[in-house]
Amino acid sequence: MLVSYELVDDIGVITVNNPPVNALSHGVREGLVTALATAQADSSKAIVLLCEGRTFIAGADISEFGKPPQAPSLPEVNAAIEGASKPVIAALHGTALGGGFEVALSCHYRCAVSDAAVGLPEVKLGLLPGAGGTQRVPRLIGVEAALDMIASGKPVTAAKALKLGLIDRVVDAPLKAAALAYARELVAEGAMLRRVRDMTVPAEDASAEQFASWRTTLGKRMRGQQAPQRIVACVEAASRLPFDEGLAFERGQFVECTESEQSAALRHIFFAERQAPKVLGLDPASQPRPIQRVGIIGGGTMGGGIAMCFANAGIPVTLLELNQDGLDRGLALIGKNYGITVSKGKLSEQEAIRRERLIRGTTDYADLGEVDLVIEAVFESMEVKRQVFARLDEVCKPGAILATNTSYLDVNEIARVTSRPQDVVGLHFFSPANIMRLLEVVRADDTADDVLATAMAIGKRIGKVPVLARVCFGFIGNRMLRQYAREAQLCMIEGASPEQIDGALTGFGMAMGPLAVGDLAGLDIGYKARQALTDAQKGDPKSYCIADALVEMGRLGQKSGAGYYRYDPETRARSVDPEVLEVIEAQASKHGVSPRALSSDEILDRHLMALVNEGFRILEEGIAQRPGDIDVAYVHGYGFPAYQGGPMFYAAQRGLASVRDRLKALQRQTGAGYWEPAPLLERLVSKGKSLDDWMAEKH
Ligand code: 3HC
Ligand code: NAI
Repeated sequence: MLVSYELVDDIGVITVNNPPVNALSHGVREGLVTALATAQADSSKAIVLLCEGRTFIAGADISEFGKPPQAPSLPEVNAAIEGASKPVIAALHGTALGGGFEVALSCHYRCAVSDAAVGLPEVKLGLLPGAGGTQRVPRLIGVEAALDMIASGKPVTAAKALKLGLIDRVVDAPLKAAALAYARELVAEGAMLRRVRDMTVPAEDASAEQFASWRTTLGKRMRGQQAPQRIVACVEAASRLPFDEGLAFERGQFVECTESEQSAALRHIFFAERQAPKVLGLDPASQPRPIQRVGIIGGGTMGGGIAMCFANAGIPVTLLELNQDGLDRGLALIGKNYGITVSKGKLSEQEAIRRERLIRGTTDYADLGEVDLVIEAVFESMEVKRQVFARLDEVCKPGAILATNTSYLDVNEIARVTSRPQDVVGLHFFSPANIMRLLEVVRADDTADDVLATAMAIGKRIGKVPVLARVCFGFIGNRMLRQYAREAQLCMIEGASPEQIDGALTGFGMAMGPLAVGDLAGLDIGYKARQALTDAQKGDPKSYCIADALVEMGRLGQKSGAGYYRYDPETRARSVDPEVLEVIEAQASKHGVSPRALSSDEILDRHLMALVNEGFRILEEGIAQRPGDIDVAYVHGYGFPAYQGGPMFYAAQRGLASVRDRLKALQRQTGAGYWEPAPLLERLVSKGKSLDDWMAEKH
């Protein structure tokens, strides 16, 4: 039964039991109304509302959005609760989120165990609280705190919720007994039916200027997103209108959000993130291997960041470098990074020290004998990696997982150096590794099922979004990135400035434009990689000549103070550099290209088409398991705006036929083979099928 009711002495207890997260599906909403009616009619003096399982209600059932609504709606359920003639007490554990917290806000009193959290994360789904959250929260805690909570979507701990006034009491577990005791106490003192709807929003921070300032701030912080602006409008309505009118305004805004493309995209990403770690066809009996201690080889940019990921999750790390100097440098960088986090107030000094102490340095492979997982992050050279893996094979205990963080190299070749290819896997982190959430798990030909299961589990444990990839040059993300980076170079030589190109992409919502990203990563990296390639492998010189010319002038990007842009040595502020425009002109003339004006639409479209076409190839070759996996990779590894849903979602929304036609037009215009539509795309269009149809047929 989704919702049950019992009478415990003189207290009615309504229990929701809808695993895994007690989402407010139609059945739960109906069950709540029925149970409430029973409680109203019996001898109970107060009613406790609580949940079975791991959490209080974690929100509306997201899978119901976009489908026809079914009565009772959540606002109706909440009105029934708030209108009850006996005190209703919400008893919270786990995460009371979204509609779940709105149910609690409709109760007359709220208690929570100390490790509970409450929040209104709707904004992360392109939504706003649609069942009174924007009207009740400002009544309880004022406009500033309410906007802070609702526009960020971040949950707050029970202690903070108590301090703010969102809940009334923090209780000790077991929750049911504590909630019953609290209810009896309220009955004994004749507590009133405290309805948040009857409160007024404190006037002090509700001025027109205040709301205007929030609109500007959120316009910058959540650039391009519609829901945050609507949230401000709803909270403003709470401060200006009577409760029922405010609620109606909120509902209207909420319904429009549920119908928006941005919310459809964000909901797609929500479910895709949860699908991605599931490996299709994996032996169901394969259990993750226990990971208690981790080794990392190489304490450079990536190794240090990866070490922090594990230390942050409380997992001890042994970091191995070539020599003491390298080790000192690596450990110092880790210390510096923790220091920055502390100085930003995001971590206590004590906690930073505790985490740093979990990372132990060594130069001796013998110290890796006990690790359960080792991740290699040395130079991107097959020769060096082969040496490292041969050594790991000698020292690591049987069953230890040997992983490589390589960006491009063949994981099968690396695995073959060892006597245990079944234990070798790619774990490809993204820079900065302690921040970026994507983790590509690269499955080599012999990788064992339980190694994949472990990789997915450990990825989640350290807060990453793991995505499975097969071996190819660049796996999912970097293979697509090559096509995208090519377009940036070609748009430049055809006449677009770096600023115009980056502007077109950031205008779409990308966190950074491709050329600013190049400057951040260092232009020498691509340059060195190209040096190892033959001319044929490098492709059309127009797709790299500007980058090469800049590196040869010593313009390596941010680290040398100049790349596609010039950087202020103090502030790192970026400015346009006429010297770069001269380089572009010179290269265009050298390669016989006459500059023309490119529109931002053309620039954006070419970049997106380059990603999408390669995405279809990657899917067909089985490099990625699902279109959603590609989307998750691009959102969490490459700054693709989640509210655009990722490249494959974009393609599906635009229509596969339109994508195919655009690719054909580009092919006609340029004569370039890479614009030929991917065979999978052609096939789907000719059969009138979608990517979802293709996935359904495959499995
Ligand atoms: N609706 C439907 N399914 C949901 C869901 C929801 N609100 N929340 C979680 N699920 C599903 C997940 O898809 C997943 O399914 P799967 O096992 O088939 O992959 C399963 O529940 C478990 O979820 P997680 O893997 O995310 O479990 P965690 O324990 O890691 O996290 C959680 C639990 C913190 C509750 C997390 O699931 C979460 O953040 N959920 C979303 C919460 C949310 O956004 N609520 C607001 C919804 S919108 C709303 O309420 C509108 C209202 O204002 C009217
Ligand atoms: P880096 O040059 O910053 O660090 C490499 C470190 O490895 C150096 O500190 C070096 O002293 C050490 N090292 C070299 N040989 C070693 C050996 N035999 N034993 C122990 N230590 C050794 O390089 P970075 O950027 O950290 O890259 C490392 C790996 O991660 C490469 O395979 C790279 O392709 C990959 N990668 C890099 C990303 C990036 O953005 N920098 C992103 C994702 C993957």
